[in-house]
Amino acid sequence: MKLLSRHRMSAATAVLAMASGIVVAGAGSASAAPGCSVDYRTNGWGGGFTANLTVTNTGDPVDGWTLEFAFPGDQRITSSWNATWSQSGQQVSATNLTWNRSLGTGQSTELGFNATGGTAAPASFTVNGVECGDTDPGPDPDPDPDPSGTLRDHAEARGFLIGTALATGPLSGEASYRDIAGSEFNVVTAENAMKWDATEPQQGQFNFSGADQIMDFAEANGQTVHGHTLVWHNQTPGWVQNLDANAMRTAMRNHIDTVVGRYAGRIPSWDVVNEVFNENGGMRDSFWYQRLGESYIADAFRAARAADPNAELCINDYNVEGINAKSTAMYNLVSRLRGQGVPIDCVGIQGHLSIQYGFPNDLRQNIQRFADLGVDVKITELDVRVSTPADANELATQATYYRNVIDACLAVSRCDQLTVWGFTDKHSWVPDTFPGEGAALPYDQNYQPKPAYQALHDALAG
Ligand code: G3I
Repeated sequence: MKLLSRHRMSAATAVLAMASGIVVAGAGSASAAPGCSVDYRTNGWGGGFTANLTVTNTGDPVDGWTLEFAFPGDQRITSSWNATWSQSGQQVSATNLTWNRSLGTGQSTELGFNATGGTAAPASFTVNGVECGDTDPGPDPDPDPDPSGTLRDHAEARGFLIGTALATGPLSGEASYRDIAGSEFNVVTAENAMKWDATEPQQGQFNFSGADQIMDFAEANGQTVHGHTLVWHNQTPGWVQNLDANAMRTAMRNHIDTVVGRYAGRIPSWDVVNEVFNENGGMRDSFWYQRLGESYIADAFRAARAADPNAELCINDYNVEGINAKSTAMYNLVSRLRGQGVPIDCVGIQGHLSIQYGFPNDLRQNIQRFADLGVDVKITELDVRVSTPADANELATQATYYRNVIDACLAVSRCDQLTVWGFTDKHSWVPDTFPGEGAALPYDQNYQPKPAYQALHDALAG
């Protein structure tokens, strides 16, 4: 079957194969001459690179495919995804998996690999033994408006929020921290300063010094603030935990009214409740749940709506990146409570990942199903931990995880924000919590960008 050439299709028209199976568009109806194109993009760094390929079938539907090419040099594949890869010398082949075996006319599938060696692209590609036409072996031929732009520049060009959590200590003490925080991001989250233990350490005694420091920095830099977090089982003072049900409900409503009310009109979105599920999808047996039952969740959202009718109100959790018992419990709760008129506007998927675990390849489908409920989705706390000290291969894999997360978010219009949970390895919660792991963020200990930064940059600039 001859697959005619077609110049690289824009990413916007690349149609991803749905993990749940391929709907072969136009099956049997194809009248188009056969054709294909391969978009080959690389992220290079010292000694290795990641290649992301988009194979587009512009011809008759195919049911099964094998991509083949020859490396121009001594590149060696070290890890790969979304196909069955094999390499013999410079010859490489990639054969479909079950879920992406069928490609209808105009459909694409994405696959990729990490490799050692240089980023020089193969001269040509074949699909099912037939050479594709004008493959696009390099960066986008349409030059970026400003390829050296910041994450913020490119995010703002596409109406997207790229953010970071901020800690008050380095914010006041380190110029490098302030400079990067202010230039690379257009939304910020207080890592700790807006939590209950910081804002109302004693009942009725509020302290907004840390929160105001974050607000002042954000407003001085023209940044949005994402509020974090109002009701959580962690970092809630003991005086709250010891209250009886009625007093606890009253204290929760008063806390939310005071904190959200103080920043009404200045904080456009809040993590209202945080981490209410167990890993199996049951309700976390926190003091909130023990004392008030599930109703504390709806009450918290109603109190926040009353305190700032214009704020976007989110439920936020971790380990809900893929489609699993926990994310499905969240999906079902959001669907049910919204059906009861509870003002839940948004879902926060935290994104605390580790390369020791596989990437949640159904992240995009998961984001899409929440969007289909009618809520916005935010990646609220992304970091990708590796074993330390990190080597080039680990940093390459980490960059791929960052790229896969932002690609999944950008692919769903209601996913409007991606926030990293800190931006420099110098200030991260991870090493204290996961001994032997760290280096989870886009900048290293010395405020130098890592491959993960480049991955975010290339996705936003693309
Ligand atoms: O403020 C006290 C300080 O006075 C004291 O001297 C010091 C002694 O250790 O502790 C300080 O409090 C620490 C606090 O961060 C502020 O720095 C706590 O010990 C420490 O446990 C706390 O860790 C935070 C953690 O939440 C608490 O669970 C991390 O910085 C923060 O990154 C992390 O963030 C959470 C999100 O809010 C929700 N999602 C999960 C994420 C990671 O746990």
